[in-house]
Amino acid sequence: MAILVTGGAGYIGTHTCVELLLAGYEVVVLDNFCNSHPTALDRVEQITARSLSVVRGDVRDQAILEATMHHFAIDAVIHFAGLKAVGESVEKPLDYYENNVVGTHRLLQAMQKCGVETLVFSSSATVYGEPKQLPLTEDHPLSATNPYGRSKLMVEEMLRDLWQANTHWRIAILRYFNPVGAHPLGLIGEDPRGVPNNLMPYVAQVAVGKHAYLNIWGNDYPTPDGTGVRDYIHVVDLAKGHLKALAHLNAPQCTAINLGTGVGHSVQEVRKAFERASGQTVPYKVSTRRQGDVATCYADAQLATTLLGWKAEHDLVTMCTDHWRWQSLNPNGFSNG
Ligand code: NAD
Ligand code: UFG
Repeated sequence: MAILVTGGAGYIGTHTCVELLLAGYEVVVLDNFCNSHPTALDRVEQITARSLSVVRGDVRDQAILEATMHHFAIDAVIHFAGLKAVGESVEKPLDYYENNVVGTHRLLQAMQKCGVETLVFSSSATVYGEPKQLPLTEDHPLSATNPYGRSKLMVEEMLRDLWQANTHWRIAILRYFNPVGAHPLGLIGEDPRGVPNNLMPYVAQVAVGKHAYLNIWGNDYPTPDGTGVRDYIHVVDLAKGHLKALAHLNAPQCTAINLGTGVGHSVQEVRKAFERASGQTVPYKVSTRRQGDVATCYADAQLATTLLGWKAEHDLVTMCTDHWRWQSLNPNGFSNG
């Protein structure tokens, strides 16, 4: 099978390409490299001792999508391409609607035109908005609190509408919780541009000496130690979930599925686990709460097990150990070539 992976040069994309290649799929990556580096794909080939095809292009470009699907006889699409920074989405909402919503719309039109009707879409737990009950099940009410989240929600709705009108399509909407960690060889990993917004990459940069301390955004939440609790999931587990989803798309459907561990960890737990994994100290200061943050968020991961036969395997220690290996071997990410 030939899989088109949009945004395949990015953090989750590269890890998924590794698993696809190891499982014997033909992989075609379409990426405009706006938030990634072509070197990452060389590393994917190095890890797997297989080659993939790369198209430098934009998902908003329907012509290049159609040409790619024809040329490589694509059977299914995994759609990662998009922008993902919550804060930036508040500053530049139109960029987010254009890349994430218009981009997906063009992709769907191209797929329809080319008769490719199997899609795995990267959604996010952000579509649950403020949790009304925990753990978060897939039938929890959906809402958005920022343009990034709204772009994911809009795409989800677009996919459900598309499926209502074309019930032969095969669509998996994967709602990721908090992906962290890296491939165990330390050759690929998250390479944030500028100062990281997310916890684990920031902690890793403190440990490697790029920042003096971690800002903990609030320690007065109604959680066991007062700091925010999230469901961190190892990116390799997440990547494997995509292959399970592809396998499950052997019948028409439009199904939303959580990919998380079902276990929540606080900011302090992550900080301490990272200290143990890295052997470095991660000093911190407590700051006021970050606007828009919720106290606690974790998945009910049962549906993924029932439907896909998938379960996250790696714990927080492995997430930190693998993240640290990547960070310490590549302190400047892919920039060193
Ligand atoms: P990433 O930024 O590392 O990867 C996204 C890739 O898409 C990059 O290689 C980028 O260059 C490419 N891209 C962006 N816009 C494009 C466009 N218009 N045309 C072609 N390529 C484009 O991000 P990631 O962490 O790998 O996330 C992948 C997907 O998963 C995104 O859709 C993101 O919203 C979603 N997601 C991520 C997280 C997370 O915490 N990492 C959580 C939930 C959902
Ligand atoms: N945090 C800090 N200091 C930091 C960074 C984060 O204390 O420097 C705290 C946050 O307050 C939160 C926790 O660490 O309590 C996790 O924060 P992240 O920014 O790593 O992750 P979020 O849960 O806020 O957001 C992530 C993605 C979103 C996605 C959401 C839901 O960034 O895109 O998960 O899946 F929508």
